[in-house]
Amino acid sequence: MRFASTILAFVLSATSLVCAGVIERRGLVKMMTASSLRRPAGAVYFITNEPQENMVITASIDTDGTLRLDRAVAAGGRGLHGVTANGNMGVDGLFSQGSVQVSQKANVLAVVNPGSNTISLFSIDPSKPTNISPLGDPVSSEGEFPVSLAFNADGSRLCALNGGAINGVNCFSIDKKLGLVPVPNSLRYLGYNQTTPANGPPGSLSQIIFSEDGSKLLASYKGTATAPGYLVSWDVQKDGSLSAQHSQVAVAQGGMDVVDLSGKGRDAAVTLNGQMATCWSTYSPKTGNYYAIDVGGNVIREVHLDGNLKGSVVATHSVPAGTSPIDSAVATIRGKDYLYVLGANATSVEVFALSAPGQAKQISKVDISGPAHFAQIPVHAANLQGMATYMTN
Ligand SMILES: *[C@@H]1O[C@H](CO)[C@@H](O)[C@H](O)[C@H]1NC(C)=O
Ligand SMILES: *[C@@H]1O[C@H](CO)[C@@H](O)[C@H](O)[C@H]1NC(C)=O
Repeated sequence: MRFASTILAFVLSATSLVCAGVIERRGLVKMMTASSLRRPAGAVYFITNEPQENMVITASIDTDGTLRLDRAVAAGGRGLHGVTANGNMGVDGLFSQGSVQVSQKANVLAVVNPGSNTISLFSIDPSKPTNISPLGDPVSSEGEFPVSLAFNADGSRLCALNGGAINGVNCFSIDKKLGLVPVPNSLRYLGYNQTTPANGPPGSLSQIIFSEDGSKLLASYKGTATAPGYLVSWDVQKDGSLSAQHSQVAVAQGGMDVVDLSGKGRDAAVTLNGQMATCWSTYSPKTGNYYAIDVGGNVIREVHLDGNLKGSVVATHSVPAGTSPIDSAVATIRGKDYLYVLGANATSVEVFALSAPGQAKQISKVDISGPAHFAQIPVHAANLQGMATYMTN
């Protein structure tokens, strides 16, 4: 398997060198500002999901939360775009959240290759986290059109959600030498009537996550015009295997829903007035609030949950029309939280400083397609996907 790595920013010329199986096309750095010499405070990662070759794009996070595109690394597989009813190749080709994931504890990054039905794992250099290296070979997702990934809390295991004609979940343990090793008795098919690539967004699989205590593995399924969406849940055994059967957890239709897995029955729907298509959400530990991303409305609604899990929108933050914000992630840098939003249609990363609850100030907008074009990396608005962060501090 070939892995290529290219520095995105300030590329003057490209040279090729081969070392330990890694083919690198590195550019010379034209301008190094003082800040780039400092130790990065973290990194963000997303994928191009291009059909010819899926690339991981990395950017370093500076101490003020701003980004510097650093390099693109071949993911070791191909991307693929889902099929929509009107045949429109719009943004969010995977209809998912979680196609790129980081385990901060285990210093690893995982991405899906939806066109190859594989998952790739990388080790992250903790002192220069845009420096990622393949860890083992890409492995089969054991299904078709893998769209979402989840690490468990200590980063010892990774589970994948397949959303295509062969759909369901499958888990791997993380071996520091071999990479992803299948966990016996964790392959669970859902048997939904889907296609490869998946038809969506209605009726497609969205995301996989572990419950906070690691005892459950959950996957979300979007409703259709005639049937509501829901979560499916497997019990996770100590050895990482999954229960033979899954149960179904109902969710409210539209807006945002809070599902109480503790069994205390405090489930609560949050109405999002004026929403168009709220498909992603993330959490800020510093503000204690949730950020719900509305791709159609070009807004980010900040939601506060009270002690009884009752939610309310405390602020609405906008991005410019035409941005189409999708996958998002938060990083804590020097005690402050920053929100990184993939502006898919604008091929940008929108960076917000979350200085306090209810306050989100956009501090930069990082163009992806210009530097990618300069470095000869194919990037299309409809294909870009995923967002994950890693912190060095
Ligand atoms: C699966 O979906 C296709 C397309 O919607 C439909 O034509 C077909 O009848 C479905 N098959 C089953 C077994 O439900
Ligand atoms: C996406 O961006 C293009 C310009 O690059 C614009 O013409 C189009 O309207 C945008 N799409 C959406 C859905 O905003």
